[in-house]
Amino acid sequence: MPRTSRIQGLRDLSVEARRKAVAEAAGVDPGSLAAFDPAHGLGTGLADHLIENVTGLLGVPLGVATNFVVNGADVLVPMATEEASVVAAASNAAKIARVRGGFTTSSTSPIMQAQVQIVGVADPEAGRVRLLEAREELIGLANAQDPKLVEFGGGVRDLAVRLVPSRAGTYVVAHLQVDVRDAMGANAVNTMAEAIATRAAEIAGGTSLLRILTNKADLRLSRARAVFDAAALGGAEVVDNIIHAAALAEADPYRAATHNKGIMNGITAVVLATGNDTRAVEAGAHSHAISPAGLYSSLSRFEKDADGNVAATLELPMPVGLVGGATKVHPVAQAAITLLGVGTAAELAEIITAVGLAQNLAAVRALATEGIQRGHMSLHARNIASGIGATAEEVPAVVARLIADGKVRADHAERVLADLRAGR
Ligand code: MEV
Repeated sequence: MPRTSRIQGLRDLSVEARRKAVAEAAGVDPGSLAAFDPAHGLGTGLADHLIENVTGLLGVPLGVATNFVVNGADVLVPMATEEASVVAAASNAAKIARVRGGFTTSSTSPIMQAQVQIVGVADPEAGRVRLLEAREELIGLANAQDPKLVEFGGGVRDLAVRLVPSRAGTYVVAHLQVDVRDAMGANAVNTMAEAIATRAAEIAGGTSLLRILTNKADLRLSRARAVFDAAALGGAEVVDNIIHAAALAEADPYRAATHNKGIMNGITAVVLATGNDTRAVEAGAHSHAISPAGLYSSLSRFEKDADGNVAATLELPMPVGLVGGATKVHPVAQAAITLLGVGTAAELAEIITAVGLAQNLAAVRALATEGIQRGHMSLHARNIASGIGATAEEVPAVVARLIADGKVRADHAERVLADLRAGR
């Protein structure tokens, strides 16, 4: 069956039927998504190998966002999140983006950097130059740690050296810039940094201290852009208000933090679903949100294009991998990768960036129009109805009453359910 990310009536199906519909639409064997069923997902046995002192598992809902077109191809996106509305909002924004061709993405090479801090250098300027003179030797030493990576076309691309003045003196900081191919790369670059540290310190004339990657992965950027059609957004006034909302986020750190949180609602959900390191991606994103003027700002940009539509862009570090780590061993992450149909870390990174942009547009559009509470309230009401024991058949009627009464609360839901069951 051809791949499509448009699935009519998905939300009206049971969880099992949805899983089947998603597999069919993605053109994958339904069995390959079996791990989405908790009975076949991560067991305590495997979890016990992932971290220490395992005492159980935490379940997080795994949804699938629909309607995404990325670089001309339909893609169904697995999203792990506890927050209501996130999956629906991303799907809705992707539907609007679809009107004008969906998302176009690109990225830099997958370059991660490791830092080696060298302390006690009497002549830091000269130490820096001595290290740069030893570029070939240090790169050779680092590459020798990971012949497999070099064989796959990766490895150290360059050595940079920075001087960092601090309250305790000036540090010479060497940066190994490493093409990590389809790995997230933390292990590879940390091993390399540890391997070159003693020799680098000797050359610089000091002592090595920290040897660790930087999560400010600004040489590993992903970009996404989309044109959101003015009519599909709700008209020219909505477009203008979206532009005002984005302008506030660009200028005001208080708004920027929330605006960027909206982006991360989408990004973190896909990063988590694919077993990648959410904290690494979040650290990279927020470090990238500092403008050249030193102000914490928005990660995305929204402009009005010549035809009056919203031209939206997002660019940020996206250190995610397909090989190694939980991505390789977690059965749900493996199923998520199968559903996405990605073959490289760059493809995964770009889809994640497109989801971040969609999530951002959805939130800003809601805020610039009716506000987010109305949408949130019906989902919140559903959670409350299920929480007080309403069955799947009873939930819609309970929700409708809670909304109509303007009392989305558990005590009221209990009364409504009792009335319903008593036929009142
Ligand atoms: C809520 O999780 C995310 C939003 O606050 C994002 C935003 O304000 O742009 C709605």
